[in-house]
Amino acid sequence: MIPIVKHLSKSLKPKPDQEKLEFGKVFTDHMFVADYEEGKGWHQASIIPYGPIEIDPAAMVFHYGQAVFEGMKCYRAEDGRLLLFRPEMNFKRMNASDERMCIPYIDEDFAMEALLQLLKVERDWVPSLEGTSLYIRPFVFATESALGVHPSRSYKFFIIVSPVGPYYKEGLNPVRICLEEEYVRAVKGGVGFTKGAANYAISLKGQEKAQKSGYTQVLWMDGVERKYIEEVGTMNVFFVIDGEAITPSLTGSILPGVTRDSVMRILKSWGIKASERRISAEEIFEAHAAGKLEEAFGSGTAAVISPISELSWGSRNITLCEGKTGKLAGRLYNELTGIQYGRIEDRFGWVKEVPL
Ligand code: COI
Repeated sequence: MIPIVKHLSKSLKPKPDQEKLEFGKVFTDHMFVADYEEGKGWHQASIIPYGPIEIDPAAMVFHYGQAVFEGMKCYRAEDGRLLLFRPEMNFKRMNASDERMCIPYIDEDFAMEALLQLLKVERDWVPSLEGTSLYIRPFVFATESALGVHPSRSYKFFIIVSPVGPYYKEGLNPVRICLEEEYVRAVKGGVGFTKGAANYAISLKGQEKAQKSGYTQVLWMDGVERKYIEEVGTMNVFFVIDGEAITPSLTGSILPGVTRDSVMRILKSWGIKASERRISAEEIFEAHAAGKLEEAFGSGTAAVISPISELSWGSRNITLCEGKTGKLAGRLYNELTGIQYGRIEDRFGWVKEVPL
């Protein structure tokens, strides 16, 4: 495995007030970085003081957008242990994203070792208050200085970490979501299943439009028929109709969320019917009209479980669970966070303790 060298900072920053933590605003003292060069592979791995980096303006990432990221969290258990939640899935997905973007493969054991070493250095930054965690952002981007369109011949792989509170200001309180009819996020054959930076750039316009109308986020529909539900962009979605929890199937244009997969498995273990299938906006609004739409919620690493209180689709608007958190969303939130913070038994073997 590539050796990881440490150059640690002489002066450490003060830690933020945990009560006031927002999402992704504060960064720790150190970061991990490794370089890639064609013919040489990944090399020069180090943990260095966090700070700005120098990069050539011709670096291909700025021009042709070869950039991929991941998102995961490190949780502090009551007994002080630091816990990760299914981190191997994130590094696997990072490579699936990299493959689609012609970015070279990163050995997943090496990526994990880099993360564990960084977390060991930054362990005092993992907050302990309920609902807080250390968000982990691995990312890779193209660095070759060239203007011809081709896969870059050099890259950088970083891991930065940030103590965070809830992603949405609403926390576990319900969010208002609107279906987007004008713009699309992804199509089959594109990059919708990746965590390519481009997917997020594409979603900004719809998000801005939704926020101007007072909604928290956009619910994307399929880019071909513009009928079927896809995802929110920062989270996957679930609709509970007549006792069945339904989430859109992974057709190539939706992110295969780690939390989405965990929710499916928890629901099944509870004996609740959980299906992955196509679901149209019409089906949801009809189910609501028939009194069968019980609740809806989003799932994601950053968002955890985010209940949806209101859904708007053109001139149609529905309120769910009288604007409150649905029963299943609340139960799932408790189960997931219980496992993540080590409060309840890890019956699926999902938790990985950070060796300190
Ligand atoms: C996550 O849930 O970790 C994400 O990456 C979503 C968002 C913050 C971009």
